[in-house]
Amino acid sequence: MLEIDILAVVPGLLESPFGHSILKRAAERGLIRVRVIDLRTFGSGRHRQIDDYAFGGGAGMVLMPQPLADAIRSLQDEGAYDEIIYLTPDGERFDQRMANQLCLRRRLLFICGHYKGIDDRIRQKFMTREISIGDYVLSGGELAAAVVVDAICRLVPGVLNDETSALTDSFQDQLLAPPVYTRPAVWEDMPVPDVLLSGHEARIDDWRHAQAMERTRVRRPDLLEEGEFE
Ligand code: ADE
Repeated sequence: MLEIDILAVVPGLLESPFGHSILKRAAERGLIRVRVIDLRTFGSGRHRQIDDYAFGGGAGMVLMPQPLADAIRSLQDEGAYDEIIYLTPDGERFDQRMANQLCLRRRLLFICGHYKGIDDRIRQKFMTREISIGDYVLSGGELAAAVVVDAICRLVPGVLNDETSALTDSFQDQLLAPPVYTRPAVWEDMPVPDVLLSGHEARIDDWRHAQAMERTRVRRPDLLEEGEFE
């Protein structure tokens, strides 16, 4: 079982992503458990304050260290984490290789920032990893956490079956996936490639590999240059 906790400023943003389809079934089967914790529960004072002005001035609020530390420590009391991960645009770029690593852990904590970010001392003290999902800025880490957690959870052994297998995904072998087709065999004068109807497994495999190579060469030549592929 992979246990994932997400510490969020806007927990409502994460109400739905894990309640459908593959991840819902995975949770029902006890393969994953995703929990969303509201940072405001750990806020200070009557207003449960969690942010304050940035020292040195400048626009934007910063998440205060104490509510974050209290939340993280209270969660750690329930059990140690393999990784504590901050979602931030200045983190390491998330990719399939990272998803493959994280899906083998037992217990992960994701921290979602907001506004101008979190007090840097919290990053220094607690984070084992910082992840960005791309070179653009979201209004908070919640949607980034949803993306990362989805990509990880579907790789947990047993979550996918043969039909949904991750082995043929784009990126699993440094290649984009080949095109796919379903019935009807001819749609609006457009036929499915003959080879896919041939029933000849080896020829189909060869064709798919050639298509994957061609697609990668045209769309993402950088993947072929990364050197992990011969
Ligand atoms: N928070 C805001 N923008 C982000 C991004 N691109 N990746 C991860 N976390 C973020």
